[in-house]
Amino acid sequence: MKFFVDTAEIKEIKELNDLGLLDGVTTNPSLILKSGRNIAEVTKEICDIVEGPVSAEVAATEYSEMMKEAAVLARIAPNICIKLPLTFDGLKACKALTSDGHKTNVTLCFSATQALLAAKAGATFISPFIGRLDDTGIDGLELIRDIRHIYDNYGYETEILAASIRTVNHVKDAALIGADVCTVPPATLKALVKHPLTDKGLEQFIADWAKTGQKIA
Ligand code: E4P
Repeated sequence: MKFFVDTAEIKEIKELNDLGLLDGVTTNPSLILKSGRNIAEVTKEICDIVEGPVSAEVAATEYSEMMKEAAVLARIAPNICIKLPLTFDGLKACKALTSDGHKTNVTLCFSATQALLAAKAGATFISPFIGRLDDTGIDGLELIRDIRHIYDNYGYETEILAASIRTVNHVKDAALIGADVCTVPPATLKALVKHPLTDKGLEQFIADWAKTGQKIA
């Protein structure tokens, strides 16, 4: 499974990239707002740090405006992935951009039929939002399961990018179901390594090693 980080915070992106754990980055208008940065500047910085796809989202809702914004975003760097909303205008733009050789990420997916449309539009990634569905009392992971099943039925190559991840278990379950990618907030990505028995075991090994009086190097 590929790991993307869901943030526009440069410090967090650098730190995770240095660990060799990052396959890409996703941003959205709310994350750009949170960063307090200019979209073109911060996205360029992210693209310089991470080799993999960096999703940058259009703000327009009408097809021709989306295409103009997509052209501006695509010029930022070769690893830009154009993020488009799951509307008919977004799907039309997805089809056109994919045909032009751009990577695309269709976002705000809340149903399996929406995901089917995105695959038909040739999306590189589909972003189903797990956490936001959970918030409404609907099981977000069930959507990932349904999309996996439908894409496998027809051999669609669109990658399932599990989004709106809130917990370590979301990551585990998305991996069990077979999502291709998870985009994870930095804190949750860091929490994946945590286990109390790892900490306890390491403490014991350090103490016992000191008692041996040995050195390895
Ligand atoms: C995905 O690309 C979105 O940026 C993100 O995962 C949304 O997550 P949220 O529901 O926590 O805002």
